[in-house]
Amino acid sequence: MQLIDGKSTANKIKEELKEEVAAIVDNDQRAPHLVAVLVGDDPASETYVGSKEKNAKKLGFTSSVYRLDADTTEEELLKTVDFLNNDPEVDGFIVQLPLPEHINADKVTQAIDPKKDVDGFHPVNLGRMMIGLPAYLPATPNGIMELLKRYDIETEGKHCVVLGRSNIVGTPMNILMSRKTKPGNATVTMCHSRTQNLKGIVKSADIIIAAIGKKEFVTADMVKEGAVVIDVGIHREKSDKTKSGWKLKGDVAFDEVSKKASYISPVPGGVGPMTIVSLLMNTLKAYKKEVYTD
Ligand code: GUN
Repeated sequence: MQLIDGKSTANKIKEELKEEVAAIVDNDQRAPHLVAVLVGDDPASETYVGSKEKNAKKLGFTSSVYRLDADTTEEELLKTVDFLNNDPEVDGFIVQLPLPEHINADKVTQAIDPKKDVDGFHPVNLGRMMIGLPAYLPATPNGIMELLKRYDIETEGKHCVVLGRSNIVGTPMNILMSRKTKPGNATVTMCHSRTQNLKGIVKSADIIIAAIGKKEFVTADMVKEGAVVIDVGIHREKSDKTKSGWKLKGDVAFDEVSKKASYISPVPGGVGPMTIVSLLMNTLKAYKKEVYTD
């Protein structure tokens, strides 16, 4: 079994990004600029945004956070989005989700200029991805594709089972893995809460992408010997063995499944660290106008 080490892969990509940004700045050009908009004071969102900002700055990006009160109206947030859409010094921005209930998140996502949508959540980017046009890919699928590429994992002709059908993980993974690309070219089955014979389908998989949101859902009896297992889940569990008092678990029962897998991504340290890197890769692409060339 080989561990898919997302942490060290992410660190390697960070070094690559840092060098590229340093070369831009050395050439007397402004650094790529990422903005995060945070509405309210949800502690998890604060942590995510803080980590995005810290990483961006460490790699030489310009990074700003727009903090808006929890009672900001939808109209005010849409005005901020419009301002950022039109600021030539902002290459890409994200509006951190979840938003307070009185704001329609779909409306806000759709107000973002697709050319600056480095989250890859706008329907235009999802549609472009679907038909194979250059697009900003959402962070988690992008990170998984990068891991498969860098570990040189064969996907062509393989049976890939995706567990979960969310707009930002399961559905894009289904599309990306079935496209005529490398990695890609797989035969994909997407499973969800209404799937019959789920266990049997997962057992026939050469590649399992678990994004079902259920702690340790994938057990060894569901996994074929030699399967590649990618774990997207994040669940906190109380523990008296860690300093924080918490331990992270994935959608896969790691201890037992790792005995059967050929490759497996752990939680923590697998897909998670790749997501911030994906966002920064997208921001650099936005700066270089690599996705939308007009
Ligand atoms: N909330 C949790 N993850 C994300 C993300 O990747 N982007 C945004 N905008 N909000 C999130």
